Amino acid sequence: MEIKNIVVIGAGTMGNGIAQTAALSGYQVTMTDIIPEAIERAKATIARSVEKLSGKGVIDESQKEAALNIQTAQHLVPAQGADLVIEAATEQPDLKLELFAELNRLAPPKTILATNTSSISITKIGAATDRPDKVIGMHFFNPVPLMKLLEVVRGLATSDETTETIFEVGRRMGKEPVEAKDSPGFISNRILCPMINEAIFALQEGIGTTEAIDKVMKLGMNHPMGPLELADLIGLDVVLLVLEVLHRDLGEDKYRPAPLLRRMVNAGYYGRKTGRGFYEYGN
Ligand code: CAA
Repeated sequence: MEIKNIVVIGAGTMGNGIAQTAALSGYQVTMTDIIPEAIERAKATIARSVEKLSGKGVIDESQKEAALNIQTAQHLVPAQGADLVIEAATEQPDLKLELFAELNRLAPPKTILATNTSSISITKIGAATDRPDKVIGMHFFNPVPLMKLLEVVRGLATSDETTETIFEVGRRMGKEPVEAKDSPGFISNRILCPMINEAIFALQEGIGTTEAIDKVMKLGMNHPMGPLELADLIGLDVVLLVLEVLHRDLGEDKYRPAPLLRRMVNAGYYGRKTGRGFYEYGN
């Protein structure tokens, strides 16, 4: 199936990164969010990002224009004209299920409904619609314009045709698609979040300072960021949510979230987005 029009739901960090990358790749993009300020912040983020990319010669003038002219809306109506909807709204299961039921009502039957969820079952989201064969996970990574991976997650009923179309879209967006089963955390967070959790346990037990733990993983293992720095980038609230899903759905104690992580989330220390996590950030 040919995809021309993409509607991105949610203008947060992931949503604006996805919208930008899709526009740079030649798709007609509409980005929606119910909060007007979120749309304004997203436009400013996209403008900064494309300025950097064009300064480095990574994108040309027409791509820059396309990204700066992404359509926006505060409602879901643009889904009526979409070939593909990519949902990147808040990671709350009830909200997502409602959203997909609504998108299913609005979008034409041919439209593929994708979700950027990092923890919710694609099969469950598919069951909230009457087109589970056209529901799929498109899991992008932060910062979306730079990270090469697209984790493509098939629900129980996702069709081969939908999967093939999404692989093509991912490649056109400059990503390397990798297929994963619809299992808690998929591949990426099944491995990443327990590593981050272990780093938090190490901090809690005083095995090393925040800086020491991050330095060990950066200099000893060549990770671009240490696990605690990375947790701040992802958002400690998101890391906790994913660990809770792994712990509950896989039923093993090895996924138990570190008490320090829970305390920090309770305190509102979510990382970069709130100005404080394992590190402090200015504005
Ligand atoms: N758009 C355009 N350019 C950007 C950008 C963006 N959104 N973000 C950063 N850059 C630019 C920077 O401005 C910088 O440019 P200069 O070299 O000209 O200054 C360049 O990219 C490199 O950035 P930095 O110098 O800040 O640092 P870096 O070399 O370490 O690269 C990074 C930054 C790409 C984020 C790198 O640190 C990295 O790969 N970190 C790991 C990120 C990661 O693991 N992400 C996945 C998180 S998990 C997730 O998202 C999913 C989930 O479900 C939890």
